[in-house]
Amino acid sequence: MRILSGIQPSGKLHIGNYFGMMRPAIERQTQGEAFLFIADYHALTSVTDPAALRAASRDVALDFLACGIDPRRTAFYRQSDVPEVTELTWLLSTVTPMGLLERCHSYKDKTARGLASTHALFAYPVLMAADILSVQADVVPVGRDQKQHVEVTRDLALKFNHAFGEVFRIPRAEIRDDVAVVPGIDGQKMSKSYGNTIELFGHPAEARRRIMRMVTDSRTLEEPKDPGACNVYALFRLFADDDERREMEARYAAGGLGYGTVKKELAERFEAAFSPMRQRRAELEANPDYVEEVLRDGAARARGEARATLSAARRAIGLD
Ligand code: ADP
Ligand code: TRP
Repeated sequence: MRILSGIQPSGKLHIGNYFGMMRPAIERQTQGEAFLFIADYHALTSVTDPAALRAASRDVALDFLACGIDPRRTAFYRQSDVPEVTELTWLLSTVTPMGLLERCHSYKDKTARGLASTHALFAYPVLMAADILSVQADVVPVGRDQKQHVEVTRDLALKFNHAFGEVFRIPRAEIRDDVAVVPGIDGQKMSKSYGNTIELFGHPAEARRRIMRMVTDSRTLEEPKDPGACNVYALFRLFADDDERREMEARYAAGGLGYGTVKKELAERFEAAFSPMRQRRAELEANPDYVEEVLRDGAARARGEARATLSAARRAIGLD
């Protein structure tokens, strides 16, 4: 089984990214042939400063390696090191109905948030389809907001196969329901565009400060509380096992538990989980040649697959 996922280098990664996408990708790397890439072509739709793009790509590489991507198991690469995906994008765009792209939420959402309305932003799901189909992925672990793009990918692959013969494997999205939407400190979906994130590798004191500022309801210390309606618990549970969750739920229900106490416990768990990774990240940062070598090696593996897929697609469509 082939597993592929990607992430845009367009800002500092946060715990929504970690639980929604990074950790599932890291866990899956033992379950098949894994591909993971830094979606820098995609990031061009929002990042217009070349230095910022370079810095963000480097940060994403460090973050993923620090969090547990094992380059012996996962082909980890920069999208732009596999330029075959752009040619495949063109071939796929010839079977892409405009209506399919018009129905995609992300274009409307992103232009509403102020991103420039470019052809690249509109056609972005076709590039994403090429990312997935180029390596013939079976499974695509992503957050819920990306499900529609994987559906588009399936549609395009089926259409292409139907018109020109079996070239692509049909992939499926894998969405973990328990972490499908990690809330931010204001209770909305955690997202860098909402300024409500807890960064993975920002300053530890800043993460703690932001946890302590999380929005809660105004119940008094004595009152029983509902863990299901509490953002702090929604994050706490991500760092806890089943027994610890049950125990915390009982403390909520019993009353006498202040939100400040839960926030402190959450901050401690966050620190315990990410401080070893922070240390590993610092070691990697001091060794840029190693990181570059990992990305080059990953690109060579992905490129081998992409070349084979592209030449099959070219042949099928009559470009041989
Ligand atoms: P952001 O919303 O911060 O811009 P992206 O859209 O770049 O994040 O998302 C990158 C990956 O992380 C995607 O697979 C997405 O589904 C996942 N993800 C982002 N935010 C969350 C969240 N709050 N909860 C769960 N998954 C998330
Ligand atoms: N669109 C995804 C995001 O914004 C990133 C991405 C690009 C991706 N290509 C992909 C994810 C292919 C999975 C598979 O998060």
